[in-house]
Amino acid sequence: MLKNRYIDLIEQTFYFPRHGFNVVDNELSFHDIPLMELIKKYGTPLKISYLPKISSQINKAKSLFNQSIQKHGYQGKYSYCYCTKSSHFSFVMEEALKNDIHLETSSDFDIHIIRELAKKGKFTPDRFIVCNGYKTEHYVQNMLQLVGEGFSNLIAVLDNPEEIEMYKKYDQPINLGVRIATEEEPNYSFYTSRLGMSSKKVMDLYKNQIQDDSRFKLKMMHFFINTGIKDTTYYWSELVRLLHVYCDLKEVCPELNTLDIGGGMPIYTSLGVEHDYAYMIDQIVYYIKTICEDRGVPVPHIFTEFGSFTVAESGAVIYSILGRKQQNDTEQWYMIDSSFITTLPDTWGIGQKFILLAINHWEKRFQRTNLGGITCDGQDFYNSDSHTNQVFMPRIEEGDKLYMGFFHTGAYQESIGGYGGIQHCLIPAPKHVLIQRDEDGNLHDELFAEEQKHEQMMRILGY
Ligand SMILES: Cc1ncc(COP(=O)(O)O)c(C=O)c1O
Repeated sequence: MLKNRYIDLIEQTFYFPRHGFNVVDNELSFHDIPLMELIKKYGTPLKISYLPKISSQINKAKSLFNQSIQKHGYQGKYSYCYCTKSSHFSFVMEEALKNDIHLETSSDFDIHIIRELAKKGKFTPDRFIVCNGYKTEHYVQNMLQLVGEGFSNLIAVLDNPEEIEMYKKYDQPINLGVRIATEEEPNYSFYTSRLGMSSKKVMDLYKNQIQDDSRFKLKMMHFFINTGIKDTTYYWSELVRLLHVYCDLKEVCPELNTLDIGGGMPIYTSLGVEHDYAYMIDQIVYYIKTICEDRGVPVPHIFTEFGSFTVAESGAVIYSILGRKQQNDTEQWYMIDSSFITTLPDTWGIGQKFILLAINHWEKRFQRTNLGGITCDGQDFYNSDSHTNQVFMPRIEEGDKLYMGFFHTGAYQESIGGYGGIQHCLIPAPKHVLIQRDEDGNLHDELFAEEQKHEQMMRILGY
């Protein structure tokens, strides 16, 4: 038999089924959610969030770090922080916080999220709050107020030497961290990250402004290697360099006891790659231990701030194909019932790829296609995935209804796309459904938000 069906293509290209994807009767399921049933119930375009994935990701990282800590006889603890900027939604935060974790903030308004969660009893003062970002006066005031209210495990991470002046205006004691600027990859457009400061500046800052001020305790050194955690020479050499900076600082600053290695744990954006999380985490723990031992410095507690890793794989966006356009002999377009620019802005802004699969008609022949959004913008398209550099979909005929999904889209897309605000060409934000699993393993879906209404946009626009 000729193997030219969509199902053959997927099965021949990837190890399939995997990562929670499966096909039953030519229709796709995602973590056992029969997607066609969801589409029949809610229609498209549709965003879904499968919340149990958030907890399983957190527990995966925690158990891998703890296994390595045990294996290496590492004398520090591991703490998992969720970086709120990846997705601020209450359902994400509340699911994440079920797993004994801490939070990382990036701006003033995050503090309001923390207050709301604390009011509901979902976030308690024994938790750590790592406050990153470029500080405004108001952000600093809000942080200090939170510490005054009993959140004494808040750590204000200084992004630049001048930031300390803001805390000096108040009597409130506060734990501090320092962000070290990383050196960028050799092919990047500048050498040193704009985030954080050089090790020389950190040393001067500590000696001149922190050491003798009884309000301040420097507890944490933080960095974020821009490429994310990757098994490359660049990543490991930058990590080693930064570990030596930690040891230098620890030699003059006895209260320093924590290293925050930032976010950047990779996620699956293609079915064609494999991430060896256990190896990466084990190497990180091993490097920290070995370098500290060589330098005669006690090992730090390890913090991470995984954003995408926590939430991305819980999300999906489902579209239907509204129509087809054959623009010349070889270029065929499938037009989706929404916009990539507004619903998956990373695909447009940074060329991000996601796992893309048809949801029905896996029995049909496959064909190469371009996917177009319905804004007027020439850039509103998606036509290459990270594995094949092209997009294949089932070939449909007049009258066929094809649905397809982008998966692992749960991080950053709503905040960058400006969810619920004005959208390009006024294309509305899609319906959003949350999916949970009860103790008996049964799935439950619940509408979180209706499709955005024109009245809301009119209001924002002043009509
Ligand atoms: C300081 C900081 N920590 C953590 C993160 C989360 O990164 P990721 O989503 O790659 O885990 C970011 C992302 O921008 C960040 O700036």
